[in-house]
Amino acid sequence: MLAQLEAPASAARSGRLVPFSPAEAPVRLEAVSFAYPSRPRLVLDRLDLDLLPGETVALVGPSGVGKSTVAMLLLGFAEPTEGCITVGGLNLSDCRLDVWRRQIAWVPQRPTIFRGTIAGNIRLGAPKASDQRTRDAAMLAGADRFIRALPLGYETVVGDGGRPLSTGERRRIALARAFLRDAPLVILDEPTADLDRTSADVVAEAIERLRAGRTVLMIAHRPELVRRADRVVYLDTGGTALIRNEAA
Ligand SMILES: Nc1ncnc2c1ncn2[C@@H]1O[C@H](COP(=O)(O)OP(=O)(O)OP(=O)(O)O)[C@@H](O)[C@H]1O
Ligand SMILES: [Mg+2]
Repeated sequence: MLAQLEAPASAARSGRLVPFSPAEAPVRLEAVSFAYPSRPRLVLDRLDLDLLPGETVALVGPSGVGKSTVAMLLLGFAEPTEGCITVGGLNLSDCRLDVWRRQIAWVPQRPTIFRGTIAGNIRLGAPKASDQRTRDAAMLAGADRFIRALPLGYETVVGDGGRPLSTGERRRIALARAFLRDAPLVILDEPTADLDRTSADVVAEAIERLRAGRTVLMIAHRPELVRRADRVVYLDTGGTALIRNEAA
């Protein structure tokens, strides 16, 4: 179920080593090439990318260049065709994926909202969280205000047949999930795409709070997001990265 993938926790094909935490160890894509099984063309061609503990890296590049594919590989939904992903020097393929995924909060390009209450949706990656912690996470994500304005507040049913949510509202619920999950590595895929200026600003401020003390890979177009990153990695259509090392 897609909703579960968004809060990756279940065991999949995986190795046996316990991976280091990205809070302590660098995560490295080392000469990673990748082709989807259905298409022979390489989407990524010997990509090198480092995520050091605590830094925010913006991954930018034209549509279709493979940015979301990088996120998918980091989450362990597929393995590199060549090259490897290492965490503190351990090959991710040798590590337990369930343990690894617990260290990651992923806000996908199109967050899934399942049918249920807003509170339940926010708790997707932390089912035992208290009401207070759920509300705190929503507040940090800039979602609390719109939620409380609803007649049933956090108990409002959303998802299939429920109250419709705008793109910005969905994003903020997905960000609240990430806050509540409190993982050391956060992957944000186009967090402000399709948002109007005001919503994008709310989300950008939420990301500033989310960054603190975490490692963040932020796939982004908007200059106001990219500007705040510690480092910017450009993926170009050749699949190679041009890395600008100076602060963005
Ligand atoms: N499941 C899949 N099977 C086959 N090809 C895929 C699959 N997912 C993505 N692709 C292809 O891989 C390439 C990279 O896709 P990806 O989604 O990683 O790009 P992106 O940089 O995230 O683009 P965007 O900015 O539009 O989100 C594209 O050519 C895309 O069509
Ligand atoms: Mg994408």
